[in-house]
Amino acid sequence: MSVEPVNEQSISLAAELLERGKLVAFPTETVYGLGADAANDLAVASIFEAKGRPQFNPLIAHIADISWVERFAVTTPSARLLAERFWPGPLTLVMKRTADCPISHLVSAGLDTVGVRFPVHQAARQMLEAFGKPVAAPSANISGTVSPTTAQHVAQGLADRVPLILDGGACSVGVESTILDVSEDDPALLRAGGVGVEEIEDVLKKKLRRPEADPNAPRSPGQMLSHYAPRLPVRLNALEPEDGEAFLAFGKAEKATLNLSPSCNLKEAAAHLFAYMRLLDDPKYKGIAVMPIPTFGLGLAINDRLKRAAYPH
Ligand code: TXA
Ligand code: MG
Repeated sequence: MSVEPVNEQSISLAAELLERGKLVAFPTETVYGLGADAANDLAVASIFEAKGRPQFNPLIAHIADISWVERFAVTTPSARLLAERFWPGPLTLVMKRTADCPISHLVSAGLDTVGVRFPVHQAARQMLEAFGKPVAAPSANISGTVSPTTAQHVAQGLADRVPLILDGGACSVGVESTILDVSEDDPALLRAGGVGVEEIEDVLKKKLRRPEADPNAPRSPGQMLSHYAPRLPVRLNALEPEDGEAFLAFGKAEKATLNLSPSCNLKEAAAHLFAYMRLLDDPKYKGIAVMPIPTFGLGLAINDRLKRAAYPH
């Protein structure tokens, strides 16, 4: 691992690492991010591996220009209004994915939306411009620990798990971005953060919906994810498919419809999970049978996701 000051050399090294599917920790105005090529399934899976996240929360795709959004997300009028007013800056907009969206389904954690953020921090912008494509990044810390606001914080947590940390000094905002769901034209606040809610309401000329204030609504973006599941019933720990079932295999299997990882590689399995579940969620099958997945490393997050998918609905 190396911690490098931000200069032409370290920026082009960062872009090169991203291109090769590696991770790069980089400063933003809010907190340091742990970045990977947002279109590369395996690279995105290694973010979850490095953070030791027991769940697949959706990740934010970082961009270097408003014009990039049109390539992968559907903008509503309020999305455009807010982007023009607050980007670049600490605001994340959750939008619908386009039909041919190139961003990994793992970034969206299987949802049909994607969170997008255009950071104002110079180093982040330089890195994103040099790479030229969206970078998926959660905060650059081990899951469950405090978000990092210096390169040293990142090194303390992730030293042996990230080849390059760009050192851009201390983050000026220090709390994460505000997250708004603008996928429908009635924006909702998913997380308070760097941009004040009042400022946003002034621009929209209306109050934001606040799903967490409604006792009948899910309380956090994480919990809302339990609302997403395949339409077909999912049967876990299946050793064989029953008649009419699609068979999602892991490791050696003869009757696989699709195989998450024939070589039992959990990172590969994580990389394929959401895309394969979508492919198998087809009315020509009567259900999806899934083979057992080990419960260590990324297997924890995979099993968490499968359990939610199998929950009767
Ligand atoms: O300031 C920030 O936003 C930092 C810097 C690195 O940009 N990033 C950050 O990422 O805080 P993370 O992964 O720690 O938090 C992202 C949050 C997650 O809690 C997730 O639930 C929500 O964003 N999120 C992302 N995409 C979403 C989506 N499509 N739908 C709902 N929530 C989403
Ligand atoms: Mg975080």
